[in-house]
Amino acid sequence: MVDVLLGLQWGDEGKGKIADFLTPKYDVVARFQGGPNAGHSLEINGKKHVLNTIPSGIFHENCVNLIGNGVVMDPILLKAEIEKTIAAGADVRERLLISKKAHLILPTHRLLDAASEAYKGDSKIGSTLRGISPTYQDKTGRSGIRIGDADSPNFDKLYKDVIEKHKGILRYYNFDFEAKLAELEEEWFAAVEYLRGFKQVNSEFYLHHQITQGKKILAEGAQGSLLDLDFGSYPFVTSSNTISGGACVGLGLAPKHINKVTGIFKAYCTRVGSGPFPTELENDMGQFLRDKGHEYGATTGRPRRTGWLDLPALKYAIMLSGVDELIMMKADVLSGLDSIDVATGYEGCSDDELCPFNIQGTVVTPKYESFAGWQEDISVMREYQALPETFKTYIDFMEQDAGVPISIISVGPDREQTILRK
Ligand code: IMP
Repeated sequence: MVDVLLGLQWGDEGKGKIADFLTPKYDVVARFQGGPNAGHSLEINGKKHVLNTIPSGIFHENCVNLIGNGVVMDPILLKAEIEKTIAAGADVRERLLISKKAHLILPTHRLLDAASEAYKGDSKIGSTLRGISPTYQDKTGRSGIRIGDADSPNFDKLYKDVIEKHKGILRYYNFDFEAKLAELEEEWFAAVEYLRGFKQVNSEFYLHHQITQGKKILAEGAQGSLLDLDFGSYPFVTSSNTISGGACVGLGLAPKHINKVTGIFKAYCTRVGSGPFPTELENDMGQFLRDKGHEYGATTGRPRRTGWLDLPALKYAIMLSGVDELIMMKADVLSGLDSIDVATGYEGCSDDELCPFNIQGTVVTPKYESFAGWQEDISVMREYQALPETFKTYIDFMEQDAGVPISIISVGPDREQTILRK
């Protein structure tokens, strides 16, 4: 049985905390897409841990953590992340499995990402510069290299062939790469060798076996639905499918095995990088959300753009993934406000045109509904009944409009600060 957990906005919804919170119910946590562009923050016993490529169940003793075929891995960054996670007390050697089919981010992929962004100038995507797009381009272009290829006698040749191609592109971009590449290459090969010391598996068979044994699997998404390659705010998206369907291809799962889809959203919206953000607040309120919500990238440290909750966009994400239940994050950040706005539609858009992200350059004006705020500090509350009435009104409205129940409300970064609704 497989449940899927994914973000419904532009990423950074708090998937790390919730995946870690839910992990005790699962035998396996499997990442199905993305790479070290993600930064999943977990807070355990007051200590913060940031995971980029390793799935969020790694701190739990009886949980297997799988990096799926749909993930792209940077050996250098993954080695450093593994070492850091071992130092923090997790038995990574025992608990981590890596799909042999997961593609490798090569040193030139990082450089190509930087070169492409620099070339685009003002119209840059604002990528995380981790080489994500060039790696997926090589995957679909059928010239990528997978971690399982490290065992091949042709590995060096495969590497050299693709690097030569990349050098040509870097020269076209007029990008100065020789010194940086020489510096990264040695480290990269050493890191690939290091990763060979971890369990590499044909993960589609592993997962199938787990399913037939009756084990419970949590498919963990990265980024968010509005960054989905096909359905997000294209071209300002990431390069993988972040919606629930991505779990099937990113892990080799048949759709019939998907049981429940849980979607995570923040009580407001954030976005990093460029692209449309209809409810963005470029004012004091936006700064309030950024400061109180610590909205600075876990991976890149970049300040996040902030804005009010966008219900049409949320409903679009719910529709795309068939979300069964919702988890609301960072509700505590809204405490202390006199009123809270929520976008319930866009001017000039019909109800069945939920999200106008399909036309490049379209500017839309949201229509807002205002809700009374609350002054109480809800981060100390642990029971739904104890929450302020105005907050409950806000929750009821959202549930009704979205047509999906909110099963968990997170009121702070710690595992304890999580309210389960009956
Ligand atoms: P890339 O995935 O590095 O190519 O970046 C493409 C877009 O997705 C940029 O706007 C990034 O800021 C955004 N992005 C990628 N990963 C994340 C994430 O984990 N959280 C939030 N935004 C992300």
